Amino acid sequence: MRQELQQGFQDQMQAELASAYLYLAMAGFCAHRGFQGMSHWLRLQWQEELKHALKFFDFLLERGVAPQLRVLDQPPAQWESPQHLFEQVLAHEQRVTERIHELYRQAVELRDYPAQVFLHWFIEEQVEEENQARAVIEQLRLVGQDPVGLYLVDQRLGERKPEES
Ligand SMILES: [Fe+2]
Repeated sequence: MRQELQQGFQDQMQAELASAYLYLAMAGFCAHRGFQGMSHWLRLQWQEELKHALKFFDFLLERGVAPQLRVLDQPPAQWESPQHLFEQVLAHEQRVTERIHELYRQAVELRDYPAQVFLHWFIEEQVEEENQARAVIEQLRLVGQDPVGLYLVDQRLGERKPEES
């Protein structure tokens, strides 16, 4: 595996771990504020991101590269409102999507076919991730500051099932 692509894969593994860390911080914040459903949703998201990081970890190993773990930055601890928090989730996922696309562009340029095939799953996954975050934001926008509405959205998010993979 070419050096620059190795670096990109190491960086992306780190970015997935940072995503997990961010969502765990968000899950803690929501639970503390009494939004148990949102917290459940974010915990599942945390697990998803750990799985993503592991995919990169295993792929690096399969290609004969030692994964290198680094320090994780401290995530924020406060958000203005549930809507603001989920807007941050979407913004974060959009940045991840850009990174994955950039990595794919590199893999194409360097004609690394296994890396391209590996990244296909992530390209699809990012469409879903952004879509899920957008759906939550839409629900939160609809209810606005209405406490009953917020309660119902929270209940709904608490019903999210873990993904199979
Ligand atoms: Fe991810």
